[in-house]
Amino acid sequence: MGLDDFKENQEVKTIDASKKLRIGIIGCGWIADSHMNSYLKQPDVEIVAGADLIPGKAAKFMAKYGLENVKTDYASHKEMLDDKSLKLDAVSICTYNCQHAVPAIYALEKGVNVLLEKPFTVTLDEAVAVMKAEKKSGKILSIGFQPRMDANMKMIKKIVESGALGKIYYIQTGGGRRRGIPTPYGTTFIEKDTAGIGALGDIGCYSLDMVLNAIGYPKPLTVSGYKSAFFGTDPNYCNYVKTGHPEYAAKFGVDDFAAAFIRLEGGIILDFRIAWAMNLDTPGDTIIMGTKGSLRIPSTECWNGTVGGPMILYHEVCGEQTQTEIPILKMKEGLFDLKIRTFLDAIKEGGKAPVPSSQILYNQAIIDGIAKSSECGHEVEIKIPEI
Ligand SMILES: NC(=O)c1ccc[n+]([C@@H]2O[C@H](COP(=O)([O-])OP(=O)(O)OC[C@H]3O[C@@H](n4cnc5c(N)ncnc54)[C@H](O)[C@@H]3O)[C@@H](O)[C@H]2O)c1
Repeated sequence: MGLDDFKENQEVKTIDASKKLRIGIIGCGWIADSHMNSYLKQPDVEIVAGADLIPGKAAKFMAKYGLENVKTDYASHKEMLDDKSLKLDAVSICTYNCQHAVPAIYALEKGVNVLLEKPFTVTLDEAVAVMKAEKKSGKILSIGFQPRMDANMKMIKKIVESGALGKIYYIQTGGGRRRGIPTPYGTTFIEKDTAGIGALGDIGCYSLDMVLNAIGYPKPLTVSGYKSAFFGTDPNYCNYVKTGHPEYAAKFGVDDFAAAFIRLEGGIILDFRIAWAMNLDTPGDTIIMGTKGSLRIPSTECWNGTVGGPMILYHEVCGEQTQTEIPILKMKEGLFDLKIRTFLDAIKEGGKAPVPSSQILYNQAIIDGIAKSSECGHEVEIKIPEI
């Protein structure tokens, strides 16, 4: 395996700009900027509409990009998707977690392709409902996991697939921040009604995806989970105090730490912990242990960009214990640009979703299982309904 394997990421593709894809943005907050910046770099895209629940927000958002003529006079996703004159090819759904499922289902029912931000949904039932709509529509639904586009993340999967680790039996993943409850733009990440889940879904979904994607997304069987909210509910939490928002403590309705012990099909144990805040630098690196070799992936605060440093492969050569440092691979293209481009290519070429719901369903099932197990105080079986 050499660095040349990653040329696929660096190739310059010729894009047929003769037909423009008509794109709408649902939810014009923080992450919508990343989508917009990447869409505007694509020669085959026309931004035709934007919607936000907050009156005037979508218009202001479009004006920021000089797109004053784009239609934005919609009270929610529904009015925009009902507007037949838009002839939408696709939408980016950039709403907070509790508003992922409803707009996604509505868009798919209207025959519109969907790029849905992560986490997939809040609950497993919602994810199943979205997938039923996806199946019925025959449209593309891709979930916004841009780390999948990262060459280093791809390297983890390549190492696993090469057989260098042998049979994998134990994985530890997670990570997090010492003081990093995300409230720079208000409280949509921490209120129960908007976020639904906290660190568990927000950054936990990334570390879960990193390892589950690498090992081929085996089915999760059982989970014993725990979650807590000691920092977010404390009015003296340093970042609330620093930003002058002690009232955020009373609004905090999600988790800021979660941990779990998960059994996966194939006799694999997954040990997980994630934090938005903790009195620690990291709860540990990600490790993938196998019968022939093990991989250490240095922790990061979020996992939404790249790995936290060179990965180390521990193995034997001719009976001697040794270790190999995997150099960090640099990317020419931005991960968000690749997330948008691969979604557009899938629509144009009739291909598969770059990040398919069928995989992320298991990610969501684990998140849902952790929440349920934490609430009932014992291990739960993960039951995934037929879609
Ligand atoms: N991929 C990434 O790197 C990344 C980074 C940050 C956030 N996110 C995800 O993106 C999502 C949005 O996060 P954000 O920080 O932009 O939140 P935000 O609160 O800044 O913006 C969300 C916007 O959606 C609007 N909205 C909600 N429901 C709507 C509906 N039905 N119709 C129209 N508008 C609606 C809200 O009014 C709000 O303006 C979250 O799920 C988050 O997890 C992803």
